[in-house]
Amino acid sequence: FRLGVLASGRGSNLQSIMDACAARQLEAEVVLVISDQVSAYALERARAAGIPAVYINPGNYQSRQDYDAAVVEILLAHGVELVCLAGYMRLVGKVMLAAYPNKIINIHPALLPAFPGLHAQRQACEYGVKYSGCTVHIVDEGMDTGPIILQAAVPVSDGDDEDSLSARILEQEHRLYPEALRLFAEGRIVVAGRKVSIV
Ligand code: GRF
Repeated sequence: FRLGVLASGRGSNLQSIMDACAARQLEAEVVLVISDQVSAYALERARAAGIPAVYINPGNYQSRQDYDAAVVEILLAHGVELVCLAGYMRLVGKVMLAAYPNKIINIHPALLPAFPGLHAQRQACEYGVKYSGCTVHIVDEGMDTGPIILQAAVPVSDGDDEDSLSARILEQEHRLYPEALRLFAEGRIVVAGRKVSIV
């Protein structure tokens, strides 16, 4: 199962996916990593693992659709079957959604539909929720709005701040994302409208 990962930053979720593949917990292979940030540490992680790592500069494209078309071209050229967004800080447009229908996955550090968008962990702390967590979902045109595949909850305590909560959630992210991809690789994900069933 050929995975392509899109990442803008540190790439710890990318690492957890590569590690799960290497450990054969996930019968898949990361064949390509793409970033919109030239200095993304995710690119270095990929190169260290011998995986093609490509920076595509959004500044070179007129529109999001043009940018997405360039991303899709290279994904297809590498035979990517499933696209994983892992800390990818751009909305995905129609061109990519059409090329990979129900085949683009994202992880978000909150229990969606609560706290979509940026700084989800800070939003959760400020709101005063007692539980937060992470969500793996299928990507649609909205921001963190697509059908939910898996979620994991963590408690939020009085002493938590954004950093401590982020760390607790991240630990679950690193478990949940490879798990969701394993379900995909095994053909166990069925999408009907906004409902995802695991068969
Ligand atoms: C994670 O918290 C992920 O849920 C969010 O961005 C962060 C990326 O972290 N979308 P990393 O780059 O995978 O370390």
